[in-house]
Amino acid sequence: MDSFEYRNNRLHCENVLLSEVAKEFGTPTYVYSRDAIELAYLEYANALVGRDDDMVCFAIKANSNLAVLDILARLGAGFDVVSQGELDRVLKAGGRADRVVFSGVSKQSREIRRALEVGIHCFNIESEAELERIDAVAGQMGMIAPISFRVNPNVDAGTHPYISTGLKENKFGVAIDDAERIYLRAKSLSNVEITGMDCHIGSQLTELAPFMDALDKLLILVDQLQAQDITIKHLDLGGGLGVCYTDEVPPKPGDYIAAVLEKIGDRDLNLVFEPGRSIVANAGVLITEVEYLKHNESKNFAIVDAAMNDMLRPALYSAYLDILPTEINEDNTAHSYDIVGPVCETGDFLGKDRTLSIEAGDILAVCSSGAYGFTMSSNYNTRTRAAEVMIDDNQMYEIRARETFEDLIKGEKLLPKG
Ligand code: LLP
Repeated sequence: MDSFEYRNNRLHCENVLLSEVAKEFGTPTYVYSRDAIELAYLEYANALVGRDDDMVCFAIKANSNLAVLDILARLGAGFDVVSQGELDRVLKAGGRADRVVFSGVSKQSREIRRALEVGIHCFNIESEAELERIDAVAGQMGMIAPISFRVNPNVDAGTHPYISTGLKENKFGVAIDDAERIYLRAKSLSNVEITGMDCHIGSQLTELAPFMDALDKLLILVDQLQAQDITIKHLDLGGGLGVCYTDEVPPKPGDYIAAVLEKIGDRDLNLVFEPGRSIVANAGVLITEVEYLKHNESKNFAIVDAAMNDMLRPALYSAYLDILPTEINEDNTAHSYDIVGPVCETGDFLGKDRTLSIEAGDILAVCSSGAYGFTMSSNYNTRTRAAEVMIDDNQMYEIRARETFEDLIKGEKLLPKG
């Protein structure tokens, strides 16, 4: 979290004090560093310099704020989307349709139509039934849909079971043993054009080996298809590269890409990557105010104003996120606290057993929250969703206003009286 650091015991994001952000915009608020986002993206882009047709397609499910998409689009990023809503966000933010790949297990006909109308780069197809639907919709529109199949290579990504996607028992993709037959079927259809092959085996991977095992299997398939006169022009290796939340040491994007380039050798293949977490996770924190301290017989609780509806990862995956005071006060006594929110669920915690010297009114930063933070937030307990702020050097920009009660009930209607 280099763009977040203490200076004189006060936590900064770039050249702004996080306590100042809290004063200006209230809490809970997501705070992102523009610099950190750009640097993380450039780690991928720079490793692909000279390979002009390769693409780094940011997986916008990790963070879909328009300002985040805009700064990435300005650097030339492509985007990986999984819904029409995400596609429309990319276009709204100024992203180019022809740099969009459309993933996801279930694309609806209206979504397929929209993607064809705007001219996306490729549909990443996840089943034979979806192939038939895309061919039919493209046929009705008199168009040819560019397609790739998400191949499930049956490798163990060695990550949390909820974010592991490349095993046969997972719902994702077409089984590798079935892939050749399905590619042949696609070749026989008139409204699709085979352009690629894709795969995504899971998220928060901290080793290269599973990526390389999957790539080996994919390359065998690419060669088999070539023998059947089916040319794969691009290979999309999905996202999944992990980040450091505590003490993990994941491979750097540059090392990962170098290993991929070595394996593909002199094959004429363009590459696509779909990183999400590794671009934004450590570029964001969630700031929250301590409302109450509660000392029970066996536990101390710091009750904060952010909750599982704002940041679901600890409750859903038992994810560990560092929690730091934005101002270190050495006069307070340190205690071990569970950091919990106001939501009426025992699972509503942001961290457990954290040793902190804090008092009510302090502002805490929940670290590594830039990915799968705001995008997974909800209105549970009729809580308005947090504000989002982008820091650029010494400037703060509100990039999403805190929701209001009126936003929340918009669209709700009472039954007629009587
Ligand atoms: N491409 C596809 C097809 C995906 O399904 C995903 C993530 C990505 C790319 C981006 O993966 P990343 O680079 O972020 O690992 N909510 C969970 C993570 C779910 C990931 C789902 N798919 C979490 O908070 O850990």
